[in-house]
Amino acid sequence: MDDKIEKIGYLVLGFFALKVASWILSRLWVFGLAKPVDFAKFGEWAVITGGTDGIGAEYARQLAKAGQNIIIVGRNQMKLEAMRKEITESSSATVVELVRADLSKQDETAKAAETLKQMANEKQIGVLVNNAGVSYDFPEFFHKIQNSAEKLDQLVNVNCASMVQITAAVIGAMSERKTGLVVNIGSGTGDLICPLLSLYASSKAFVHHFTKCLRYEYESYGVHVQLISPHLVSSKMSKVRAGLLQPAPKKFVKSALASATRLQSTCGYFFHDLQHALVSNIPASLQNKLLFSMHESIRQRAYRKMKQN
Ligand SMILES: NC(=O)c1ccc[n+]([C@@H]2O[C@H](COP(=O)([O-])OP(=O)(O)OC[C@H]3O[C@@H](n4cnc5c(N)ncnc54)[C@H](OP(=O)(O)O)[C@@H]3O)[C@@H](O)[C@H]2O)c1
Repeated sequence: MDDKIEKIGYLVLGFFALKVASWILSRLWVFGLAKPVDFAKFGEWAVITGGTDGIGAEYARQLAKAGQNIIIVGRNQMKLEAMRKEITESSSATVVELVRADLSKQDETAKAAETLKQMANEKQIGVLVNNAGVSYDFPEFFHKIQNSAEKLDQLVNVNCASMVQITAAVIGAMSERKTGLVVNIGSGTGDLICPLLSLYASSKAFVHHFTKCLRYEYESYGVHVQLISPHLVSSKMSKVRAGLLQPAPKKFVKSALASATRLQSTCGYFFHDLQHALVSNIPASLQNKLLFSMHESIRQRAYRKMKQN
């Protein structure tokens, strides 16, 4: 009897070891060894929202390098022009068009969506990266967020409403052409209970759910809908220095782009997927405690900094 139990134990262990090994190997292949994705098969143009900084600017640069013409949606005309100059100077064959819109304002988003819908009827828009996003200045109790009514509206408008409107403007033409790639940038927080970042995490949970529903809706139209849910990436938003677990946007986007059409939902970067798998398997009560104390210490640090200034 003991012998039998021992054998079953080894079988179960072997099964889990195989599962972990195949998970690791498949991700190492996607992020490190696979051939670059051929984005030309979707069309000639890529739209990137929030393409003036951080992750979005890097998507614009790297999709241009991959042969796409680029449409950048952003709120700051000077930053938009600077991106166009930078991209066209480094690849003279690339055409860059700019759509200026503050996506926290519903009327400006509606106008941008109308412009993009028209563009999608005239040009082959094959790739859409819904990247624009905002978070809190620092983790905070929900009722203590400064200028809260305005801030909370802005967060929902940029992170959720603009993604919905801009997707609606572009995905119809993609489905008529029976090809396309929509990449929605969520966040690791969208899958976790995130005290002190409640609204940000919830807005990203919306992005995750919307993405997964759309994916099945458009599968038969040949349109891929991918969810990228990063953990920390060094940027204006995260205010962290680049390192192995918090890559610079250039490194992060290179790896995220390699996963397009190969992984439907991923953090976009090997070490983030690993981090996500580990954190998600911690019991919920401990997970909540850890995230609360991490965010609380960032909050305290922010208050100390404000007092000094
Ligand atoms: N960095 C991270 O650790 C991290 C982790 C998880 C998820 N994410 C997600 O990744 C995405 C990109 O973040 P990031 O780190 O690259 O942030 P970022 O450096 O702050 O860049 C955000 C981009 O969104 C644009 N944007 C913000 N508000 C806008 C508005 N009202 N209208 C139009 N554009 C607007 C910004 O424009 P300006 O250039 O004018 O500011 C910028 O181009 C976001 O969706 C974020 O939630 C980031």
